[in-house]
Amino acid sequence: MTSLPPLAPATSDLQLGSQPFTPGTSRVTVLGAGVMGPGIALVFAEHGYQVDLCEIHETGLAKGMQSLRDGLALKVSEQLLTQEAADAALARVQSHVGSDVAIARADLVIEAVSENKEVKRQVFDTIARIGKPTVITWSNTSSLDVFALSDASMRGRLVVAHWFAPAQIIPLVEVVGSAPHTDTLMQQTCEVLRAVGKTPVRLNKMVNGFVINRLQRLLGREIFHLLESGVISPEDMDIAVRASIAPRMQVLGVVQRYDFTGLGLSVRNFRDPDFQDPPFEEVPKHLLDRVNDGHLGVATGQGFFDYGTQTMLELQNERDRHLYRVMERLSHYVDGPRPVR
Ligand SMILES: NC(=O)c1ccc[n+]([C@@H]2O[C@H](COP(=O)([O-])OP(=O)(O)OC[C@H]3O[C@@H](n4cnc5c(N)ncnc54)[C@H](O)[C@@H]3O)[C@@H](O)[C@H]2O)c1
Repeated sequence: MTSLPPLAPATSDLQLGSQPFTPGTSRVTVLGAGVMGPGIALVFAEHGYQVDLCEIHETGLAKGMQSLRDGLALKVSEQLLTQEAADAALARVQSHVGSDVAIARADLVIEAVSENKEVKRQVFDTIARIGKPTVITWSNTSSLDVFALSDASMRGRLVVAHWFAPAQIIPLVEVVGSAPHTDTLMQQTCEVLRAVGKTPVRLNKMVNGFVINRLQRLLGREIFHLLESGVISPEDMDIAVRASIAPRMQVLGVVQRYDFTGLGLSVRNFRDPDFQDPPFEEVPKHLLDRVNDGHLGVATGQGFFDYGTQTMLELQNERDRHLYRVMERLSHYVDGPRPVR
């Protein structure tokens, strides 16, 4: 049996907390213009919201704004946005060093500041002190219990909305609240995310790393164990995954797949006495050795692969072009009709 994709709510019906949340009127303040902030700002600006993007340093802000402009330019070159729409989106973004003015006028603050308890705590204190009493805060933390870091006055007005990089392309946002205070806000947050083209998934409780980073962490243990044991090369590992579980996951996810494998066989696989789980390593040697040699990945031109003289922007644009094409073909399988259910 198939089902129709959930309709995005009309933006005129959206609400956050006790206030309507409407393009053209409502203001979104994004704190932090590092890896995540500019992509999140782009999404809201593209959907008609007035956006303030804030940083603590001029250099960080300039870099973040360039990244936002690059993101829009790529959408134009991929014919996903007209030049006029991109110009209009950019015109809706104001950039600031410092954030007091932007926090004070925000209807929604999205914090994408450094993953550091003290930095986050200070940000929440500022929002509680100078934000409107109705302001809603979304935290993009990857693992911190932000409810324990924030003032009691923010209870019911703060949820985690955890995006994935590049934020303007990857659909998933994990939404986590502090039940029972945030049940309504989580629902409203999901509706707003759907209206700006995202695919929200609600978590029923706080868990360190949420869901997808936990899966990636566990997968990482096995990946590095196999590489370090010399079982397979990094190139072949990536080919093997792209040619098997990646497309299958796109169709079946990771749970429904068991129904097709057969639950009996799955039990026998878990019980297989010859199967050794990888030993626990705090940080895999393969990773640490490269970091110690100054090879940090695309940022330095070398990681597991050698990127020659290509700049980080060229590499990111190439990745993002492919991601747009993959998403265009496969978005049907994200939250549209599925082959079986
Ligand atoms: N990088 C990712 O792939 C990713 C994915 C999902 C979630 N996250 C989370 O998103 C948040 C941001 O991650 P990032 O990778 O963009 O970090 P980043 O280090 O690239 O950027 C954070 C930026 O916040 C700025 N900042 C610090 N304090 C600030 C303040 N008070 N006001 C405004 N700006 C401030 C810093 O100067 C820095 O430029 C973190 O909580 C992180 O865990 C990151």
